[in-house]
Amino acid sequence: MKKGKTGFGIIGTGAIAGHHAKSIQESDSCQLVAVCSSSASRAAEAEKKFNVPACSDVADLLAREDIDVVSICTHSGRHMEPAIAAARAKKHVLIEKPIEVSLERADKLISVCREEGVKLGVIFQNRLQPGFLQLKEAVKEGLLGKLTLGNAYIKWLREAQYYSSSEWKGTIEGDGGAALINQGIHTIDLLLDIMDDVKSVYGQVKTVVHDIEGEDLGVALLNFKNGALGTIEGGTSLYPGYPERLEVFGEKGSIILEGGQIIAWNIRGEKNGSNKVQSGKSSGSSDPMAVDYKLHKAQIEDMVKAIQENRDPLVTGEAARKSLELILAIYRSSRENKLIELA
Ligand SMILES: NC(=O)c1ccc[n+]([C@@H]2O[C@H](COP(=O)([O-])OP(=O)(O)OC[C@H]3O[C@@H](n4cnc5c(N)ncnc54)[C@H](O)[C@@H]3O)[C@@H](O)[C@H]2O)c1
Repeated sequence: MKKGKTGFGIIGTGAIAGHHAKSIQESDSCQLVAVCSSSASRAAEAEKKFNVPACSDVADLLAREDIDVVSICTHSGRHMEPAIAAARAKKHVLIEKPIEVSLERADKLISVCREEGVKLGVIFQNRLQPGFLQLKEAVKEGLLGKLTLGNAYIKWLREAQYYSSSEWKGTIEGDGGAALINQGIHTIDLLLDIMDDVKSVYGQVKTVVHDIEGEDLGVALLNFKNGALGTIEGGTSLYPGYPERLEVFGEKGSIILEGGQIIAWNIRGEKNGSNKVQSGKSSGSSDPMAVDYKLHKAQIEDMVKAIQENRDPLVTGEAARKSLELILAIYRSSRENKLIELA
């Protein structure tokens, strides 16, 4: 272990683990120490791929004293168990989105991390997109005035093979649902970070194209606690898949992001808004792995700093719980065909 570097372990060595490993290995502030896979054969593959020791028993990984933080990269409905085991072993926990697939499981892991005094961070890497940071700053400075409307559109496409090649994607137990909780959640998290808490929601979800348990299409009408309205339209059945869009309107103007880039910046009385418009989108609209690892790297580095400075990480467990709570309320609204009040 190199001096002064924060030691990382990764549990779950599938697709997104590659982003974590690359980010950690490229970063000056941390070091990948070891990884844990679900079987001995996968561990052997992972050892070669990541060039660090690999095991297939979570306890073996957690027994290592040179690991300070554990990245949880197992599937969404299997975040809680390894996260709790890591916290009990006094390791800080950095968990992939969504935090979990039910509020009970999310709350349990949040409370164990608090009880053990370890940091809990949740990856929502789009919070660090430069366009989103500019939008957030503009709202904080009051440039838009009182917020009136916030919309998240995630009209994405996943081909049938995306679901059929995975044991957990699109399943209720493993994914918690599908299009909203897995893909849409990134933009829904950004919407909530800007617009703040939701008072009530009416939603409808459907499975229109794919042979899966979860939804591949969903819409929702939101009433925010601050009086603003909002909508969500999301899916993984929407050919050919368009870059996700976040629209924020206030009394004084509006800002629109598409694929993480500012495509409209219109504030009353501000002359040079068009200078803010960006180009060069990076979106997972039709390709799950089109997501750049650099934002993961930035969030991993924020986690290291949060530990060093003893502050909250960029996205805490409590903050990550909000998008889960909203999406589960949309599912419930759809099942019961009624408006759901959030706590
Ligand atoms: N932030 C992003 O942009 C982004 C992108 C893709 C996936 N994700 C999230 O990352 C998580 C994993 O997704 P993925 O696409 O990498 O899935 P994946 O199926 O490719 O990988 C998950 C891996 O976890 C392993 N695993 C399950 N239980 C385990 C255990 N107890 N011990 C060790 N290994 C275990 C599985 O064998 C599998 O290899 C999901 O929660 C997903 O939502 C986030």
